Amino acid sequence: MPLIVEQRILAPRVSWLRVAAPEVAAKAEPGQFVMVRLDEKAERIPLTIVEADREEGTIVLVIQEVGRSTADLVRLRAGDTIRDLLGPLGRPTEIERVGTVVCVGGGIGVAPILPQARRHREVGNRVLGIIGAQTKELLILEEEMRAGCERLLVTTDDGSYGRKGLVTDALAELLAEEQAIASVTAIGPVPMMQAVAELTRPYGIKTIVSLNPIMVDGSGMCGSCRVTVAGATKFACVDGPEFDGHAVDFVELRRRQSFYREEERRAVAAAGEGCRCRNA
Ligand SMILES: Cc1cc2nc3c(=O)[nH]c(=O)nc-3n(C[C@H](O)[C@H](O)[C@H](O)COP(=O)(O)OP(=O)(O)OC[C@H]3O[C@@H](n4cnc5c(N)ncnc54)[C@H](O)[C@@H]3O)c2cc1C
Ligand code: FES
Repeated sequence: MPLIVEQRILAPRVSWLRVAAPEVAAKAEPGQFVMVRLDEKAERIPLTIVEADREEGTIVLVIQEVGRSTADLVRLRAGDTIRDLLGPLGRPTEIERVGTVVCVGGGIGVAPILPQARRHREVGNRVLGIIGAQTKELLILEEEMRAGCERLLVTTDDGSYGRKGLVTDALAELLAEEQAIASVTAIGPVPMMQAVAELTRPYGIKTIVSLNPIMVDGSGMCGSCRVTVAGATKFACVDGPEFDGHAVDFVELRRRQSFYREEERRAVAAAGEGCRCRNA
């Protein structure tokens, strides 16, 4: 069973775990994820591989507590084990040398955008980063993103740190200033990714979003992660999780994400906790 070798708290209800998983670490590429099951009775949770150290045989996961299963994962400490860890799953991000790119991360989305920014830098792209959170205490991985970007803009919704406003406000400024942006990658809450795609659309800039529909098996069999992209049905676990933001049906995605809201509420209530579902 995969062992947690290191654990840190990044922000309230956000945990950073380094997990021994040599087979996953050997193959993982930016954009891929694992399916994690804490114990026999737990549900499977998709989590992005934020870092993979091939020599050490470890991967890093960053988990935000939003419901019953993530709450159990956030409670784990170094020395604890995870029952199942399956991966790497999903298609790796296609990253090549294209010039100037923008990487936008909102909330917990800063964790999955980090490996993308790092890889863009490795291949020689000029990386402009934008990260944001509701408040200063919820902002994660700023130092790591600063090291991975030539320029980093930081926003908080309440103005407690960086610029006051949303990541899309900072992106609007960058789009007006910068002449030759080759691509924008955005990871965060669905409304944020939708807003980023609408901002870049008039500029005709390639825009990649990482979708987070409900996933169950992570292998293309159950159909629960169905999304519509350019009018065609795709499964985010095997065809994604990254897609062309200008072609995603965000209205359908948001509707499907709230599909199991009542069951989630019941699971949290049964565990005797207050519901912290993001979509509640
Ligand atoms: C490809 C992918 C990568 C992800 N990477 C990360 C990550 O690195 N860090 C992180 O904190 N979160 C990540 N998530 C989201 C994470 O999987 C969900 O927050 C988690 O499954 C919620 O489970 P829960 O039981 O705690 O919450 P619940 O109370 O069950 O649900 C709360 C909300 O989480 C979402 N959700 C619930 N179950 C799933 C599921 N099986 N698949 C997707 N979303 C679900 C729904 O929107 C739901 O309303 C990722 C999701 C996907 C699809
Ligand atoms: S999670 Fe079952 S098909 Fe994608």
